[in-house]
Amino acid sequence: MRLSLAIILSIVLSTRADTLDIWQGVVGNKYFTLKVPGDTYQAYGANGANDPLHGDNDVNYRWIGNSSSYLRNIFLVDESQFAADRVLLVFQGVDTFAKISLNDHELGNTSNMHLRYVYDVKDYLKFPEQNKISITFDSPVKVAEALYNNQSKSYPVYPKCVPSSYNGECHVNHIRKMQASFSWDWGPAFPGSGLWSIPELMAFNDSTILDTTADVELIKDHHWQVRVTVTLMNAPSSASKPLTGVLTTRVIHKDTTWNYKTKKYDPEESYENSTSFTFTNNEKTSTLSLIILIPEAEVSRWWPNGYGDQSLYTVNTTLRTSRHYEHKTQRIGFRTVELVQKPLEKGLSFYFRVNSVDIFAKGTNIIPISILAERTGNKTVRGLLLRYMQETNQNMVRVWGGGIYEIDHFYDMADEYGIMVWQDFMFACAMYPTTREFLESVRTEVKQNVLRLKNHPSVVLWAGNNENEAALYGNWYGTGKDEVYRNDYIKLYVDLIKKEVEANDKTRPFLVSSPTNGDYSANNGWVETDPYSNLYGDIHYYNYVFNGWNINTYKRPRFASEYGFQSLPSIKTLRSGCQNPENDLVRGSDFLQHRQHLPGGDGIMLYQIKLNLNVPDTNDSLRDLESYIYLSQINQAVAVKVQTESYRQAKSTVNEMGEGRTMGALYWQLNDVWQAPSWSSIDVDGRWKILHNYAKDFFAPVIVTPRVTLDQLKIFIVSDLLLPIVNCSVEIRFHRIWSESMPQVYAKQLESVTVPPNSAIELSTLSLEGILAEASCGSTFQEAKKKCIIELILRDSSNQQLAPPNYVYPGPPKDYDLPACDLYAAISRYPSFNLPEHLRQYYDGYEVTITSGCTQLFVWFDGNGFYTGKFSENGFHLLEGSKKIFFLENRMMQPEIQGITVTTLGSIYATPKPRMEFYFN
Ligand SMILES: *[C@@H]1O[C@H](CO)[C@@H](O)[C@H](O)[C@H]1NC(C)=O
Ligand SMILES: *[C@@H]1O[C@H](CO)[C@@H](O)[C@H](O)[C@H]1NC(C)=O
Ligand SMILES: *[C@@H]1O[C@H](CO)[C@@H](O)[C@H](O)[C@H]1NC(C)=O
Ligand SMILES: *[C@@H]1O[C@H](CO)[C@@H](O)[C@H](O)[C@H]1NC(C)=O
Ligand SMILES: *[C@@H]1O[C@H](CO)[C@@H](O)[C@H](O)[C@H]1NC(C)=O
Ligand SMILES: *[C@@H]1O[C@H](CO)[C@@H](O)[C@H](O)[C@H]1NC(C)=O
Ligand SMILES: *[C@@H]1O[C@H](CO)[C@@H](O)[C@H](O)[C@H]1NC(C)=O
Repeated sequence: MRLSLAIILSIVLSTRADTLDIWQGVVGNKYFTLKVPGDTYQAYGANGANDPLHGDNDVNYRWIGNSSSYLRNIFLVDESQFAADRVLLVFQGVDTFAKISLNDHELGNTSNMHLRYVYDVKDYLKFPEQNKISITFDSPVKVAEALYNNQSKSYPVYPKCVPSSYNGECHVNHIRKMQASFSWDWGPAFPGSGLWSIPELMAFNDSTILDTTADVELIKDHHWQVRVTVTLMNAPSSASKPLTGVLTTRVIHKDTTWNYKTKKYDPEESYENSTSFTFTNNEKTSTLSLIILIPEAEVSRWWPNGYGDQSLYTVNTTLRTSRHYEHKTQRIGFRTVELVQKPLEKGLSFYFRVNSVDIFAKGTNIIPISILAERTGNKTVRGLLLRYMQETNQNMVRVWGGGIYEIDHFYDMADEYGIMVWQDFMFACAMYPTTREFLESVRTEVKQNVLRLKNHPSVVLWAGNNENEAALYGNWYGTGKDEVYRNDYIKLYVDLIKKEVEANDKTRPFLVSSPTNGDYSANNGWVETDPYSNLYGDIHYYNYVFNGWNINTYKRPRFASEYGFQSLPSIKTLRSGCQNPENDLVRGSDFLQHRQHLPGGDGIMLYQIKLNLNVPDTNDSLRDLESYIYLSQINQAVAVKVQTESYRQAKSTVNEMGEGRTMGALYWQLNDVWQAPSWSSIDVDGRWKILHNYAKDFFAPVIVTPRVTLDQLKIFIVSDLLLPIVNCSVEIRFHRIWSESMPQVYAKQLESVTVPPNSAIELSTLSLEGILAEASCGSTFQEAKKKCIIELILRDSSNQQLAPPNYVYPGPPKDYDLPACDLYAAISRYPSFNLPEHLRQYYDGYEVTITSGCTQLFVWFDGNGFYTGKFSENGFHLLEGSKKIFFLENRMMQPEIQGITVTTLGSIYATPKPRMEFYFN
C-alpha cells in the first residue's frame, strides 16, 4: 500500500517546490498540495461546501482519517550547506505515525506529535541535484485500534469509545496525538495526518545552538539568578581535531536609549557570563549552563494583568567558534510564584501567590484553536483571543489537556498581556497505557515541552492531566477497584511526569491532575480521596439540573477551574457552517443536532432557558432560531456571571463546613473549533457571545454583587485591589419596567463602608419584600417582583463609580410584562476622542447613542467577527430611556456596520417585531 502510493505519486506529481513549507500529498486517490501547517484534510480544500467545517463533512470525510497517506517535498541545498560539517533535519509536530525518508534513505519513524524529531542527514544530501523527503503516514485511527487490541490481550485501557453523539473515533488515549482530534463534546473528529510546523534544515560548521532556555529564581541576598541552559549540536571532534568555542549570554536590563544631552545613543546595559568549551570526544550534543546574578533592584517585575506591568527582558546568547558565529534571543520576566496549600480550619487553602501577592485567578480554559492543523497555526487568532481575555479583566488561562502544547507565539502573547498559564500535560478524560514504548515517549515529550516553555513568566503551573484522577476515583469508565489502573495512574503521572517536570523545572509548582485535592491527594495515595472536595484543591462543577441563575446552587470550593453553560453561536456563524440554510437554520434541524455532542444537551439547554425566559414560537422559523440563540446566550451569560460572582463572594470567608476562601474562577471555555452549541464565550468566527461581554464586568477588579436567598438580599463588595477602599457606599436603584410614561426610579443609599485590601465583605441583609415595598414597586410582593429591576451601584466618597453596575432580577424575566417598542442606535461617523485610554491603543471608538421609549432588557448587538470590531458594552439593560456606548473598530478599517443587528428581550415576543435600528448619524 505504502509503496504503491509512493510510486503513483512520483509519477503523477510534477510540480516542484524548493521550500520545506509546500508539500505534495496523496490520500486515497486524491492528490493535494499541503501548505504547512496542514494535514490530509487539505485534500478537500477549504472553500464553500468542501470546507471540512461545513455540514456533516466531519463524518463524510472520515475516510481520510482511516487511510494511510503520503507527502513529498523536493528541495535544493546550496554549496555551503552541502559542505557543512553537519546537517540536521528537524521536525516539530509530525502528526503522527510517519516513516520519514530522505533521498530514499530511511531516517526514522515518528509516533508522537508532541515531540521534536532531529535527524542527521549530511550523508544523504545531494548537490546540486534535487533532494526529496518522503513521508508515509499510517492511519491514526487504525493504529489506535491496533494498539488497543494488542493492549487488551493483557487488560483493556478504557474508555472503549466516545459517546455516539460525538460521531467520533475510538482509542485516542493509546496514541500521542491531539486527543481532541478524535472528537470531543464540543468538537468534531478530524483525525488527520500532517505537519504542524515547517521542518528545518540546519547546516553548520563546528557547532550550533539547538535550544536555549532559562530558569529565573529569586535567591538570597536580593538577587535574581538567571540560569541559561544551552543545547549545542556539534560537529565531529577528537583529541587530534578538538572543537573549541565560546558561549556568551547577556541579560539586557536596559535597552539602548537616545541621550538628548550627548546626542548619542547610550549603550544597552546588561549582565553577562561566558564560558569556553573544548570537545575532543565526538560529543554530538552538549548542554552548557551559565548563571547570571542580577541585583533585585535592577529589574522590574512581571505582573499578572491587573496587578502591574508585564516587564520583559531579552536574553541574548552568542556562540562563537573559529568557523561559526550565531546569536539567539529569548525573553524572560522576573516574578515569583507559589501555589499556597496551607492548613485552614478544615482542609487546605489553594491559591496562587505571585510576587508575594495572593491572586484571585480570573479567567477561562482554552481548547485548541482548531482541530485542523492548517487553522491551528494561526498566530493572529491566538493573539486576539489572549487580548480579548486581557480586555475583560482576566488573568489566567488554562491550556487544557486534550489539545496541544501551544505554539511559542501563544506564550509570548500571554507574557505580554499578563495572562498566567495553567499548563496541563496532554492527557484527558481517559486511562492511559504504560507500556515501555509509551512511557519513554511521554518522558521525552515532558522534557522537551518543559524546556521549551519554562522561560515564559506567564507559565505558573504544570498539571499532569485533565480529569483522569476523577475518572478513576468516580469509576467513569468501568475500571472499578482494579489495582492495575491505580498503579498505571501513579506510574504515569507521579513516577514519570511529576519526576521529569521536577528534574527540569524547579521554579514552578506541579499538580498531578485537575480536579484534584492537591497535597491532600498526594498524602493519601493520589487516587484515594474525592477530587471534588470543596476543602482541597480545585473542582470542576457543571450544574445542569438546578436553576443556573440561583446563586445558592453553587458550591464553595477553594478554586473552580471549570464550570459553564452551553449556548448557540451567532446566526451568522451558524450560517457559515451550514450547507442548506433553509433546512439547517431551523430549531432542532439535523444540522443543529449533528453539532450538539453533549448527550441530552439540547434538552438541558431548553430546560435551563425556560426556568427564566419564555421561548417564542412564531410562524417564522428563522426568526425563532435567532430568538433562541439570543435566549441561549442570555441564559449562559447570566448563569456564568452568577456562578462566578458566587465564587468571588467566597473569597475571604469559610462557612460552618469550612468551605470557601475561594481563590480562582476559570470558566469553561474561551473559544470554539466549529459552528456548534458549546460552552464558549467567543465563537469560531471570533464573535463575542453575550458571556464574553459580561466577563469584563464580573471579573472587574472591584464588584458589587448580590446574593438573593428566598426573601433576603445580601450585598457583597469584592475587591482585588491591594489598597483599602475607604468610605464607599452602595446605592440601590429600583427601576420600574416602563412604557410610554417616564421611567420611575427610586434610590436607596446604604451606609458607607471601608473595604480592606484584597477581600470580600458582606453588607447587612435586607428584606427583598421590604425594600420593594419601600420603592413602591407593587402592592404585593408577588406583583412587585414582576415590576422592578434592582440596580446596584458602588461609589466612592467623591461619587465616582468604583464597579460596574450590577442587577438583581427579583423575579425571573419570564414573569415580567415586558413592553415592546422601537429602539434606535445611532453611530457617529467620526472617531470619538472620548475613548478611554486603555482602548485607544488598539481601537478607534465611535460613539453610539441608544434610545428607546420603554424598558429594554438585554440590548444585544450581534454580528462582529475577529476583525470588524465590537461594542464597549453589549447585552446591557436600557432602563432610563437612553445610553451612550462606543463601537470599537480595529484600526485601519472603516466602521463596518452592515449586518449588525439589534435585539432586545421585549422585541423577540412581539409581532410584528418592533423597529431595532442601527444607523450612521
Ligand atoms: C474508520 O475506522 C474505524 C476503526 O477501524 C471504524 O470503526 C470506522 O467504521 C471507520 N470509518 C470509515 C468511514 O471507514
Ligand atoms: C563550512 O565550512 C566550509 C569550508 O570548510 C565552507 O565551504 C562552508 O560554506 C561552510 N558552511 C557553513 C554552513 O558555514
Ligand atoms: C520504522 O518502522 C518499520 C516498521 O514499521 C521498521 O521496519 C523500520 O526499521 C523502522 N525504521 C527505523 C529507522 O527505526
Ligand atoms: C503489545 O502488548 C504487549 C503486552 O501484551 C506489550 O508488551 C507490547 O509492548 C505491546 N506492543 C505495542 C506495540 O504496544
Ligand atoms: C557563570 O556561570 C557559571 C555556571 O555556569 C557559574 O559557576 C559562575 O559563577 C558564573 N559567573 C558569574 C560571574 O556569575
Ligand atoms: C544579540 O547580540 C548580537 C551580538 O552582540 C547582536 O548582533 C544582536 O543584535 C543582539 N540581539 C538583540 C535582540 O539584542
Ligand atoms: C487566521 O484566522 C483568521 C480568522 O479566521 C483569518 O481571517 C486569517 O486569514 C487567518 N490567517 C492565516 C495566516 O491563516
